[in-house]
Amino acid sequence: MKPAFVFGTRPEIIKLAPVIRAFEEREVKPLLVHTGQHYDYEMSRVFLEELGLPEIDHHLEVGSGTQAEQTGTAMIKIERVLMEERPDVTIVQGDTNTVLAGALASVKLKIPVAHVEAGLRSFDRTMPEEINRVLADHASEVLFAPTEEARKNLEREGIAENVYVVGNTVVDAVLQNAELAESKSDVLERFGLRPREYVLITAHRAENTDSRENLAKLVKIFESLPMTGIYPMHPRTRNRLKEFGLWERVSSAENLIVTKPLGYLDFLRLEKNAFAIMTDSGGIQEEAIILNVPCLTLRYNTERPETIEAGGNVLVGLEKERAIGYLRRLMGDKEFYRRMASAPNPFGDGKSGERIADILLGLYKEGKLKVK
Ligand code: UD1
Ligand code: UDP
Repeated sequence: MKPAFVFGTRPEIIKLAPVIRAFEEREVKPLLVHTGQHYDYEMSRVFLEELGLPEIDHHLEVGSGTQAEQTGTAMIKIERVLMEERPDVTIVQGDTNTVLAGALASVKLKIPVAHVEAGLRSFDRTMPEEINRVLADHASEVLFAPTEEARKNLEREGIAENVYVVGNTVVDAVLQNAELAESKSDVLERFGLRPREYVLITAHRAENTDSRENLAKLVKIFESLPMTGIYPMHPRTRNRLKEFGLWERVSSAENLIVTKPLGYLDFLRLEKNAFAIMTDSGGIQEEAIILNVPCLTLRYNTERPETIEAGGNVLVGLEKERAIGYLRRLMGDKEFYRRMASAPNPFGDGKSGERIADILLGLYKEGKLKVK
């Protein structure tokens, strides 16, 4: 069997690594196609190195652009590779423009698509990711839903065949790397941080950063932190802050350390030892509950409602009063903190990568891996 992995951004590399590894353990050589949606060393290569992934077979160097430029260029380049390589299945993960491009290019060549992390819905069609998720799910032949809730979302849209609830590969990634992070990373020492004495911050979502009004709200939160905050900043946010004339305020915010994006081992160690996490990231909402760190989500909706229902995550939005209010409550109310920090992980047991590889190999052997 010849599986092709198409990916291009930081979270896709991290969450596909356990699936790639599972195929290698089963002595199946995966074909790796990197679109180059993310291209800075600290947004891409650092993860390939730290996670010990094999060499990339095709670098497509798509780079940045408008939604259509990026998706369209990726589609054209992915199609060429798929025509040349004719894999048995194309595996994509998540909700980026790379995923949509990979799924569309593949299914139109009648190469079946397997979508890892299928069925997530924020029910907010203004997000590029929501459009990508819905379309990728509908173009896919095999759907790996992380939770029962995600499976139900697919069912509501009439997708019932070949849906497997396998957990989220993010758990595999965390379990495979948490100890390594603790022993290898010196990130706390580098930034002079002590366990449980800082809040870890990330924000990069288009809806939060592309509008000056929303970005200015985030800046107000950063300026009001009641404890040290560390923010490994996504290049998108850095660029927008400069464009909107907000950079000075962030770089001089009293309690805030801003740094470039960090490698996975550094970041995982920062997450694991944080007092709390404030984020608009999807993957970080998941990692927070897996690591038993309270998460305050800087958004008004989430496609990860399981984290809210479990009690480990609160949607605090962008208003300073509410966001900082929750952080202060965590600092002052031990029982509230304990409850949030002991919420059960809803994303499975860390064997999702193995399950995905076994299911795909099984379908392939039975001759069922075909576009219908
Ligand atoms: C993309 C995904 C988002 C995901 C995020 C992971 C889409 C629509 N969005 O958002 O769902 O959460 O990746 O981090 O696919 N840039 C650099 N260097 C890089 C990459 C990007 O400087 O290596 C800058 C460029 O100015 C670029 C901007 O960041 O225009 C945005 O990058 P892009 O890949 O379009 O979207 P993300 O915000 O990274
Ligand atoms: N991450 C990292 N370094 C950072 C920020 C994030 O290694 O500086 C990891 C994080 O642990 C998680 C993933 O990147 O696994 C999340 O990526 P991101 O927030 O960019 O994307 P999203 O999950 O929102 O799509």
